[in-house]
Formats: sequence, structure tokens, C-alpha cells
Amino acid sequence: MLGEQIHECHVAVIGSGGAGIRAAIEASSHGETLLISKTIAGKGGCTIMAEGGYNAVMCEADCTDDHYQDTMRGGAYLNDPELVRVLVSEAPLRMNDLISWGAVFDVTPECTIAQRPFGGQKFPRTCYAGDRTGHEMMMTLMDRYHACGAETLHEVDVIDLIPSKEGITGLVGLDRKGDLVIVHADAVILATGGGTRIYDISTNSMSGTGDGYAIGYRAGATLIDMEQIQFHPTGAVYPRDARGRLITEAVRGEGGVLKNTKGERFMSRYDPERMELSTRDVVARAVATEIQEGRGTEHGGVYLDVTHLKPEEIERRLPIMLEQYLQFGVDIRKEPMEVAPTAHHIMGGLKITPDGATTIRRLYACGEVTGGVHGANRLGGNALADTQVFGKRAGEAAALCSRISCPDIDPMIHDIRELLGTYREGTINPAAVITELRLAMWEGAGIFRDEGSLTRCRETIERLMKMTPKAVSNQNLAECCTVRNMCTTAHLIVTSALLRKESRGSHLRTDCTEIYNPEKSLFGHTGISPAGARIERRNS
Ligand code: FUM
Repeated sequence: MLGEQIHECHVAVIGSGGAGIRAAIEASSHGETLLISKTIAGKGGCTIMAEGGYNAVMCEADCTDDHYQDTMRGGAYLNDPELVRVLVSEAPLRMNDLISWGAVFDVTPECTIAQRPFGGQKFPRTCYAGDRTGHEMMMTLMDRYHACGAETLHEVDVIDLIPSKEGITGLVGLDRKGDLVIVHADAVILATGGGTRIYDISTNSMSGTGDGYAIGYRAGATLIDMEQIQFHPTGAVYPRDARGRLITEAVRGEGGVLKNTKGERFMSRYDPERMELSTRDVVARAVATEIQEGRGTEHGGVYLDVTHLKPEEIERRLPIMLEQYLQFGVDIRKEPMEVAPTAHHIMGGLKITPDGATTIRRLYACGEVTGGVHGANRLGGNALADTQVFGKRAGEAAALCSRISCPDIDPMIHDIRELLGTYREGTINPAAVITELRLAMWEGAGIFRDEGSLTRCRETIERLMKMTPKAVSNQNLAECCTVRNMCTTAHLIVTSALLRKESRGSHLRTDCTEIYNPEKSLFGHTGISPAGARIERRNS
């Protein structure tokens, strides 16, 4: 029999990346806040790994209208315009919060915040701390968090949210010993980050398994545009252990060029105007095409070259890239890197209002687990800004929820115990399910997809969903719950991808040849919830 611990709070925040921590800081100024983290808080998630930067209008030469237009165009106009307006107008304010809390960003000789060019933007708008921007942000946020009085549950995997007539009133999780953790709350914020670990090659940390999408879906929330998966154009290709690791867009922002094995700067064929600083969907497809057509390296990549830059510039602006490649046996001051696309970000997610309210009462969401801000393709540098802008808003809005009494959760606990019991009797190693799922997603729902590849992928996912992963000890129960979430998230992606019979942003359907002007596409958001899946139709 598993043990149980019970907690009560006003706001429960699930996730300890940039969005979760920002939400908890905000919520804690209004009432008791409990943060539930799958890892040691602040050590998992993607923010801490983010390299390149944070987009914000920080000087008079730039303006929020341009940031808005760049974001909408980059997102193939699938973005929610209201969310984008909020993002661009509040990103500078949240940047100033970080600075006032002690974050050290790079500065110009005039002591203004330094900004570098990133893809798809008319202005060099990306603020940075070398190539370890996310680390600097997380260190600052964690200091602030430790001073804000919120409580933390480390290493607890959330299994499901507690539903009631009044909306979501808490959650049930599992700790590392395999004991149930029950949290009663007046409001819950999902800030669980992304999930591209469901792909064979990914930049995400090991915790990026898409839990929040699956948890939100099971609770009845609507998710939009789940088919929109961003493949970052430049992931490491070798050594094998480093495959998929992010090679920051800052390398191209600082002047790095992409070449194939014929020595051609091939972006001139795909986007002669913006070249390497085109949007990520375009650059990733260009790199994949060069490799597919036989102009890739023996390791299956293309070259990313900074050898024309001054060595001291590389040392100063890209120290982590330099150090990491030296560990791989490559001195990027003298030889090119080899790179290929890697699954990086899920643009779709829980449908939210500008205050982070989902379609379920008392359930809020912020950061990568939400949809709508980035449309069909996110601009590099907009994710870190998103975490801070919508983290603060969700924390504030959730904290305004009225108090509510705890519902009877005995039936739910009974069902969860039954589910966990089936894992003890399971028949397949969870790792085997994960491996097959990742390969199926990479093959069937990757950069290029069609009806056939997606249908085969969905069949594989559905077969895997029928298997029961085996927990050999209490400690493995959480892993089995993660497998369930990974399969659900993969299914949401593929079902949505089958619905969108057009190529838009990151979603390239090779079997849909009719080209729409994205601004006038007949298709709006895909939407999926337990009630069904559909795509909005527009008139023009
Ligand atoms: O390339 C990068 O540094 C990634 C940035 C981002 O995804 O925003």
C-alpha cells in the first residue's frame, strides 16, 4: 500500500522552469503558494539550458509594433494577436524586473543592454548573457523565489489534476518513494514546459516529456495547434551522446554561416534576403533538404562556420559553444561545427487568455505548455520573454481566485491506485515504449510529413498506448506515468497534424500542394479536447 501526504495551499504551481518560478514569485505575494517540481526545483526544464537570448524592445531605435509584426509574420499569422500584443509590450518590463533582481546581461560600451540579431527580426532585439542567458535568468529567479516565502515539493511527478464542480482544485502526484502526494488548492498553474523529448532527437532536457499537455487534456482543457513543432536548425550531430544538443542561433546572429559539403552557402537558394537569419522553419527545412539531397557530411549534418570571426570575439560572445566543441575535439575558432535539425519547441498547447486562464475554471497555464503566442513558428528569443510575461500574469490571476473547500477525492484516489497497480503487473519495459515512440515521431511527424506518415505514426502510438509499462519497484511508477503522458502528447500532435491539410509555418505537409498566403489561409487553429478535435475554417 502506498503512503499519502496531504498539502493545502491557495495556489499550486506545477513546474520550476522560468515560467513556473515567475508565476510562483507573483502568486506568493497574494497567498500561500506551493511549487511542485518534477526535478530539484530550478534544475530541470528548458529555461536553464537556454543559450541565445530574450527578445525585448529596449531602445528608441526599435518599437513594439515591429516586434509584433516580426512575431506574427514569423508565426505564419497563426498567433493569437492579443497574446502577441501583451508579449511585446510587457517583455521590456519583465526584462527590467530581472535586471532589478540582479541579473547580469551583456552591455554595450555605453552601458546600455547589448542586443544581437536573431532570425526573422528586423532589429537586433535579442538581449543576452553571453551564450548562457537562461542560466543567468534562472539563478536570478531562484534567488528571488527563495526570498518570496513559497514552499516547494521537489521531485514530485504530477499524475492528474483534481476536478470538481467549481473547476480544478488541486492535484495528485507521486514522490520518489512512490507515495501519493495530494495537494488541495484554490487554483492550479500548469507551467510544465515543453515535450520534444517525445522525438528521437531533441534539445530538451530529460524532463521535457510533455506531461502538462497530457495532464491538461485529461482534465478537459482545450489545446490548440499541437501540430506545430519547431525543429531548431542547428543541433549537434556528433558525438552520439551529444546528438541534438542545441547549438545556439546566436552563432548565426554573431555571423556564423551555413555551408554544405560543396562549400556552398546554401541559404541563398532558400531565403536570399535573410540567409542564415531567416526564420527557423525555413532554415531547418533548408538544412534537412541539403542533407536529404546528398550534400550533407558523413555524420549527416551540414557545416556551421565561424572561422572567419576573430578568435577573441568567439571567446567573448560564444564561450559555451567554444568550450563544448573543444570537448568534442573541435576548435570552432579553426574548423566548422557539424549541425542538423533537432526537435526544440512545441508552439501549440493549452488555449489561454492573456491572464493565463485555460478553458477550465481555476486552471491557469503559462510558458511553453500554452498555445497561441508563437503561432506556427516561434522566433528565437521569444520563449524566454514569454516565460516572464505570462508567468507573472498567470501567477497574479490565479492568486485572485476565491477560496474553495476541498472536494471528496476518494473515488479519484481509488482510480489512481488502480492505475498504479496495473503498472506493477505491466508487461513491457517503459524504456522500450519510449524508444519506439521517439523513432515513430521522428519518422512520421517530423519536419516533412504527409497523411501516410502521420497515419502510420498514429497507429504505432495507439498500439503503444494499449501496452502496460512495468514498474519493477515503487520508484518506477513515475516513469510509467511519464510514458502515459508521452504517448498522449504524441497522439495530440499527430491527430492535430492530420487535421491541418495545409503547410503552415513549421508544419510542412508534403501531400498538400496548394499554397495559401498564411495571412489569408482558410484554416485557423486546430483545437483538441476530450470532446473531440477540429480545425477552425475561415472565410478568406
Ligand atoms: O538558439 C537558441 O539560442 C535558442 C533560443 C530560443 O529557442 O529562443
